[in-house]
Amino acid sequence: MAKVFFLIFLSLLLLLPLSTAEIRSSEIRSDSRSIIPFAEFGFAPPGVLELNVSHLSLSNSSPELELSVLGFFLSTGDSWLHVLGQMQDGEITCALQSSLVKLVYTFNNLPAGAHSFNVAVSETDPGQFTLVFANCLPQLQISMDVRSAMYNVDQKTNRRDYLSAGSTVLPRVYFLFFLAYASLAALWIQVLYKKRLTAFRIHFFMLAVLVLKALNLLCEAEDKSFIKRTGTAHGWDVLFYIFSFLKGITLFTLIVLIGTGWSFIKPFLQDKEKKVLMIVIPLQVVANIAQVAIDESGPYGLDRYTWKQVLLLVDVVCCCAVLFPIVWSIKNLREAARTDGKAAVNLMKLTLFRQYYIVVICYIYFTRVVVYALSTITSYRYLWTSVVAGELATLAFYVFTGYKFRPEAHNPYFVIDDDEEEAAAEALKLEDEFEL
Ligand SMILES: *[C@@H]1O[C@H](CO)[C@@H](O)[C@H](O)[C@H]1NC(C)=O
Repeated sequence: MAKVFFLIFLSLLLLLPLSTAEIRSSEIRSDSRSIIPFAEFGFAPPGVLELNVSHLSLSNSSPELELSVLGFFLSTGDSWLHVLGQMQDGEITCALQSSLVKLVYTFNNLPAGAHSFNVAVSETDPGQFTLVFANCLPQLQISMDVRSAMYNVDQKTNRRDYLSAGSTVLPRVYFLFFLAYASLAALWIQVLYKKRLTAFRIHFFMLAVLVLKALNLLCEAEDKSFIKRTGTAHGWDVLFYIFSFLKGITLFTLIVLIGTGWSFIKPFLQDKEKKVLMIVIPLQVVANIAQVAIDESGPYGLDRYTWKQVLLLVDVVCCCAVLFPIVWSIKNLREAARTDGKAAVNLMKLTLFRQYYIVVICYIYFTRVVVYALSTITSYRYLWTSVVAGELATLAFYVFTGYKFRPEAHNPYFVIDDDEEEAAAEALKLEDEFEL
């Protein structure tokens, strides 16, 4: 088992050198697609597109070819819909003829015999633009190497900013969240020290989860700020992927462990609970590989769609799997409440588990569904808000988990003897009275 993990992890690291980030290079070989999208960018003018094309060759080089219907253009999503409409109505036969797109370069401008060209165009309109290649000659196959770089220019400092308009604040956002988690970790260490007599192994595990999350955010901030400055990712991404891998595994493991009551209620795991971990951990490995593949392939990579499906599927399975142990615990507690006479204690534990179950579901729902919905409806300029929403929900989930399961001498969750059963019964009675 360990060997398999190691191999998977190794192949994960091998995937990394492909990294290209915001400056994108693609090789097109004997391609006859009529439309090839390359890269997407949110411009906040003044912005620039640099395009370098080399090793250009066409499958048919007869001089009668109408080269003005081959070329690159920039278009927003809205204009593209209109262009499609124009083509359907027969107003134009090629996207390059529409006045709604911004021409970057058409091949009739190529000097005779040239196999490469470089252009830089400045973009003066704000918006989310896609760089597209159009080939309106049926059956003509094209081969070329395309390198594209898009950036905005900061007017005060005159520096290039390779992050899209909606992502340019992300380095700062990630750093702020890093600070939040670092303070939480410091607080937790203090709690562990003060309550060291009632701290369980799982409390130290929680500390590890917090620290990994903080390191993951720090790497993400560093990574994004490097891309912002240079347009390329650096070798450090390896660290980022390692931490996000460890963070994913430890967080899911923690939810399962808390759900089973491990280390609080019982020092061992049952077989079926172990099976959940055996499913969740390898799936997390797959999820991380998929995430890397998606990040590296760019917005129009060919296998991107497949990887996204894989990621979605794996994520759904993991999220469902972690709920089982909580449901089993709730069932066990309900039975125990009926049979072992410690009804009050069990009832309190039951309430806690039910709460936890609901919070886990909300957390999963919010970070998967709501954040995704937000990112699709917000304007390209405010894309960072969905990141903030997701991170805030995650932070709230960590705080809730830590608070509810903190080490404490009189936490009803841990009581076992008869004295404390009485105390719990009293507490419950009080609670009932308050509710009435
Ligand atoms: C790409 O084209 C731009 C604009 O002409 C030029 O400034 C830049 O040096 C070129 N880059 C490469 C790698 O050729």
